[in-house]
Amino acid sequence: MARILTGIQSSGRPHLGNLLGAILPAIQLSDAEDNEAFLFIADLHSLTTIKDPELRHQNTLATAAVWLAFGLDTEKNTFYRQSQIPEVCELTWYLNCLTPFPMLANAHSFKDKSEKLSDVNAGLFIYPVLMASDIIGYDADMVPVGKDQKQHLEMTRDMANTFNHLYGETFVIPESIIDEEVMVIPGTDGQKMSKSYGNTIDIFLSNKKLRKNVMSIVTDSTPIEDPKNPDTCNVFALYSLLGTDSMVDQMRKNYIGGNYGYGRAKQELYELIVAKFEKERALFNSYMEDPQTIIEALELGENKARKVIHKVMSRVRKKLGY
Ligand code: ADP
Ligand code: TRP
Repeated sequence: MARILTGIQSSGRPHLGNLLGAILPAIQLSDAEDNEAFLFIADLHSLTTIKDPELRHQNTLATAAVWLAFGLDTEKNTFYRQSQIPEVCELTWYLNCLTPFPMLANAHSFKDKSEKLSDVNAGLFIYPVLMASDIIGYDADMVPVGKDQKQHLEMTRDMANTFNHLYGETFVIPESIIDEEVMVIPGTDGQKMSKSYGNTIDIFLSNKKLRKNVMSIVTDSTPIEDPKNPDTCNVFALYSLLGTDSMVDQMRKNYIGGNYGYGRAKQELYELIVAKFEKERALFNSYMEDPQTIIEALELGENKARKVIHKVMSRVRKKLGY
């Protein structure tokens, strides 16, 4: 049985790109019979950027509600909040003291963030050490992540190897699963959909707001009567990711045939989102109205996660002479 582990920062409500690129594939992996998944909300990592407690709490609930609405099996898997298992911070300290300063100073993500953000705090700097603790603290075998996290995974392996080398076999060395082909879902402006670009589609908005969100997708100014190129259009790209083959073929014909405006294409995309995610949108809302159910699902996982990290930490403390 392979232990798959991945974390999701609670830095906002998951958007369509997070869903198709990360959440649905992880749920699929977690459903495989031979896998056991540890999926957690990285609410300690989110403190590097989000300082408002109420906002972080709401983001944590919303992120959890999305996973639950999409059917994550919380009995089979281990679903938890990073912050509820403080051993991960203890392990972070130990690893901090074994990690060379230049390794962290050279991290792409730190360099990138320290150029862009006004608040360059020490938490951003040791972000990869907390991430390594998230992984090796739970004896994870495989870690599915986006390409942007590749270097963090290499650092995790380095830290685990260094520890094992100094103190003897203690940590499992995790493998990353990085799907190089993973589709990049375009946002409303055609760039990669991302919270940081303000170009997301939030399928959990009310119908009216969702329609407005879809209508904001940027298109060119080809007149209604003219034929249009589906392959350069963001609306068509998103429709293709969600529609059945025959629906997509029909829309392609409409584009090429002319007399079919972008407004109609957007309306069809909106209706498709509403129909396709009807069940999940309703479930999301009912979870958000009943946060206690979300907390209970997380607590169930936290009890399981605690037992696992306790065992690992007793190995670690013994090795370190504590
Ligand atoms: P954001 O860019 O909105 O801040 P994150 O960096 O928090 O998103 O990403 C969370 C997860 O969602 C990662 O696994 C990432 O690879 C995936 N993801 C984010 N945006 C997209 C996208 N546009 N297409 C596919 N996957 C995405
Ligand atoms: N840094 C990851 C991201 O931003 C989130 C994360 C935190 C994570 N800890 C992790 C991912 C451990 C995988 C494993 O996407």
